[in-house]
Amino acid sequence: MINPTLTTLLDHRSIRKFTGEKLTANEVSTLVSAAQHAATSTFSQQYSIISVTDPQKLAVLAEITGHSWLEGAGHYFIMVADQYRNEQLTPPNATTTTNLHSTDKLLAGIFDAAIATEAMVTAGESLGLGSTVMGSILNDTLRVISLFNLPELTFPVLGLAVGHPAEQPEQKPRLPQELIHFNNEYQPLMANDPILTAYNQLITAYYHERGGNRRDETFTHHTIREMSRDPKQREEILVALIQQGFSLDDMH
Ligand SMILES: Cc1cc2nc3c(=O)[nH]c(=O)nc-3n(C[C@H](O)[C@H](O)[C@H](O)COP(=O)(O)O)c2cc1C
Repeated sequence: MINPTLTTLLDHRSIRKFTGEKLTANEVSTLVSAAQHAATSTFSQQYSIISVTDPQKLAVLAEITGHSWLEGAGHYFIMVADQYRNEQLTPPNATTTTNLHSTDKLLAGIFDAAIATEAMVTAGESLGLGSTVMGSILNDTLRVISLFNLPELTFPVLGLAVGHPAEQPEQKPRLPQELIHFNNEYQPLMANDPILTAYNQLITAYYHERGGNRRDETFTHHTIREMSRDPKQREEILVALIQQGFSLDDMH
């Protein structure tokens, strides 16, 4: 089964090298419009998008993320979970307290920002643009918050570099569906599952054959390495969430 939408979705790959051509105002507005038409939890539209065009701010983001190539992107967005805007809707003398500080609403803002991000990725790809989503803005969350003057009840979720691709990387093969899509109940994975072994071989071949940064790697290896990263590297995230007014203790 195939159509242009599926072709775009199934052809996805992150792009990290751009021609340097800037996106037009119309392209930027089209991507934002695609984000706005994504589903949004309780129709609260609890996210904001910041376009970063200031070269000094882009340089700071390059330093924080370790991705100097983002400065050559056609456009850069910061996707922000945002309950602050909705809090402004409460009348000044209201006696009721809002639930916007709750963990539930923090997650809703993160869902909204993330779903909007993917809509922008796909919209961009449908226009021939490439992009990379960046969680690495959270390498220094407090600095990102102050760089963009993010008020309370907001939180930077992802960066998004978009531009005209100057590379066509190999697609990264995904896990076989049997390992991620279950019927009616969860199916635990055994590390020696032959389906996983076959996938590991596929990933090894991918890392051997791809254009750049070739290495010897299985999916199992890769995932274990990711799991072994010291969580202290990003412990500031919790500090930042509390600083931004999210209570995180309301669900106990
Ligand atoms: C939430 C999220 C955060 C990500 N953060 C980064 C990042 O900081 N830097 C980066 O180069 N890629 C980042 N990526 C892109 C992933 O590395 C990429 O999607 C994954 O390796 C699969 O490759 P593909 O997108 O080319 O299929 C991120 C993707 C997601 C969904």
